[in-house]
Amino acid sequence: MDINSTLQALRDPFGVPFFPWVFQLLMVLTFALHILFVNLVVGGIAVAVYEHFKGGDFNRRLSKALAQVSTINLSVAIVLGVAPLLFVQVIYDPFWYVSNTLSAWWAMIFLLVVALGFLATYVFYLKRKKNPQGYGLFGGLALVFVLCAGIIISALSVQALVPGQWLEWYTANGGLVTTGTSLYRFELGRFTHFMVPAFINIGIFMMLYAWYFRPRSDFDGAYLDWVGRSGARMAKIAAMIQVVVGFWWLLTVPADLHFMKNPFLWVGAALGLLLLVGLMKAENEPDRYAIPMALLSFVAILGMGTAREALRMTYLGVFEYSIYDYPVNVDWGSTALFFGTFVMGLVVIAYPMIVAFKLGRGTLTES
Ligand code: HEM
Repeated sequence: MDINSTLQALRDPFGVPFFPWVFQLLMVLTFALHILFVNLVVGGIAVAVYEHFKGGDFNRRLSKALAQVSTINLSVAIVLGVAPLLFVQVIYDPFWYVSNTLSAWWAMIFLLVVALGFLATYVFYLKRKKNPQGYGLFGGLALVFVLCAGIIISALSVQALVPGQWLEWYTANGGLVTTGTSLYRFELGRFTHFMVPAFINIGIFMMLYAWYFRPRSDFDGAYLDWVGRSGARMAKIAAMIQVVVGFWWLLTVPADLHFMKNPFLWVGAALGLLLLVGLMKAENEPDRYAIPMALLSFVAILGMGTAREALRMTYLGVFEYSIYDYPVNVDWGSTALFFGTFVMGLVVIAYPMIVAFKLGRGTLTES
């Protein structure tokens, strides 16, 4: 049996319970949300650790705020990771499962490092109140664990794209390798391309922070000015670096895939450039640009996520695999339940979020 028909045979014989393009759309959307929060965690902890060790009134204050918010952002990033995980397992099951069994130990180590990263982030935030010096190290540790998790998931994603190499990996050393102890393929350019935006997005987050707390009389205006300007500058520099990293990754994509001709790639790249132009203007007026830059950044992340999905389709097209011909066996009951609970969930969390937003900003009025 050749690899193309193996991939067809590995599909779920029951087919998918709804149209594959719907799963694909939701996968790209939820991946964009996931990676946004991953960025806020990586950037948030990195800046918190840096400012913590740098010292100074403003620096320590910002460090504490970022350490605190990183605990929440990490929870959200993990929860939002589950959504694309479910979708990728539905429409790309042959690829995801093979990649995960080839590196089964790493798939489990991933869970461990996520849990350790979570604990370290909490220790960094909570315990350092008593011992400001020592606990800064936990921030560094949290960053290492979170980055390890990212490296593992990125390797699993990349391994899933190259079915042509699976046999070689399964039969290394002339025998059958079923230990699952190796990670076989990792692309630094690709990973860096998902990590540099951590500094774009945490920079924009700092602009939002300055904008959000501005109406509060208990916040020092000079501190907010410093946070907003530093955030805008960092975001701008990171966006410039991201352009270079983007081309670096692109050059590592096999030329015979002709991905350079893919329009989704150039739409994604154009959105990234637009963000860079916006950030160049934002440095002088961070408060004014905070909301537009946050929205534009999310659109750029969506563009990047769409290009990433187009790249996956290009890789797998070589093996004549398309999710659009996945057998469909529509199950209206589970679909209605899914969308019903999704909409209900949004309605339920909207109210406490609005209240929390107004409370934190000091703009909640009695009516
Ligand atoms: C907390 C640390 C985490 C970091 C730093 C992280 C980072 C990343 C990165 C960089 C990617 C893109 C990989 C690539 O395409 O090369 C990614 C994708 C993904 N992550 Fe996370 N992630 C984390 C946690 C999680 C968790 C806890 C889950 C699941 C519960 C998860 C599920 C996923 C999924 C499903 C994908 C997409 C896989 C695909 O489409 O092939 N992640 N993550």
